[in-house]
Amino acid sequence: MDPKRILLIVGGGIAAYKSLELIRLIKKAGMDVRVVLTRAAQEFVTPLSAAALSGDKVYTDLFDLTDETEMGHIMLSRQADLVVVAPATADLMAKATQGMANDLASTLLLATDKPVLMAPAMNVRMWHHAATQRNLAQLKVDGVSFVGPEEGDMACGEFGLGRLSEPEAILAAILGRIGHSGALNGRKVVITAGPTFEPLDPVRGLTNRSSGRQGYAIAERLAREGAEVVLVSGPVALPTPPGVRRVDVESAQDMFDAVHAELPADIFVGVAAVADWRPKEAATEKQKKTAEPEMTVTFVKNPDILEAVSKHLEMRPRVVIGFAAETGSLEDYAKAKLASKGCDAIVANNVSEGVFGSAHNSATLLDLSGFTPIPGDTKTAVADFLADYIQKKL
Ligand code: C5P
Repeated sequence: MDPKRILLIVGGGIAAYKSLELIRLIKKAGMDVRVVLTRAAQEFVTPLSAAALSGDKVYTDLFDLTDETEMGHIMLSRQADLVVVAPATADLMAKATQGMANDLASTLLLATDKPVLMAPAMNVRMWHHAATQRNLAQLKVDGVSFVGPEEGDMACGEFGLGRLSEPEAILAAILGRIGHSGALNGRKVVITAGPTFEPLDPVRGLTNRSSGRQGYAIAERLAREGAEVVLVSGPVALPTPPGVRRVDVESAQDMFDAVHAELPADIFVGVAAVADWRPKEAATEKQKKTAEPEMTVTFVKNPDILEAVSKHLEMRPRVVIGFAAETGSLEDYAKAKLASKGCDAIVANNVSEGVFGSAHNSATLLDLSGFTPIPGDTKTAVADFLADYIQKKL
């Protein structure tokens, strides 16, 4: 397959220096990148350094794009799979909102028929100004997607929103937008991740140690393959992966309802650590301490989301995968789970070794053909393996 092509428009601003690292990362990810520097960007980055890193000619207003030896702006903007503006200055955002075409960068943004991703960077007050926020809202309506800006110290000495996202985050957004291979283009995936929270009263509840990292890694990986990914997530402290739609829930019942509202789907991956039980009644007032030395809470069973999706009569996804976190007799439990839940595969992992909350996971996949150890010992490796497995199963 041909490598994906990125047209990178670099706006002027102190953050422009980060575009060099971004060019390097895009190339490293196996994509081609063609760079356009605005006049102001050339104050911060030289065409020579951008050309050296991209391995291609760099375009500036100095090139005459109507010259036959040069590529016309229409061609330049359409030969890309994605147009990325990083840093997107307040000025470039305003021009794009208005459809102005008075320099090469704005002309390309007006002439393109390809998706556009902007990574804004500007002073915090410029970002919060009503004009910029109006432009942001309009650009979103026009279909432009955004990564950042981030909060932090700014070159101008102020603190707040306006920093350019790190090149790694921009790359992730690029991959989320166009996909690595597009192998899952047009496929819908629903993933559950994180813990559930079962309320006892308005302030207390029962939860577990799941960090959500495994489910989030799978969501990110499948989005990169071009799938439409919906991540139904319990309460976790993780950013939403690029290109993923996240639905936040708390209880198992909420998670069950949110998953069912997203069906039909082609693929379901149940990674969440769903509470098997919930308090029969959640008090409406905060419970007071009493003189009693003991307290009894009655629990009722939660619905099993994985089993319900696997056994859905009208809308069973083509591929249904569950997880089994165990502290012992891993293989026996996994076999029993595969049979009772009716899913296509179970990823069994041993959680007695500090898996929860860490980047590590060592796991085995069980399906009808038996056990396959998953190579590598990270949550990313499990995500990579599943992305491959799902493509073969479809
Ligand atoms: O039965 P157990 O909880 O060990 O099964 C784990 C698998 O089942 C995981 O994939 C988990 O996401 C899913 N599950 C579920 N709904 C429940 C309990 C577990 O989807 N109520």
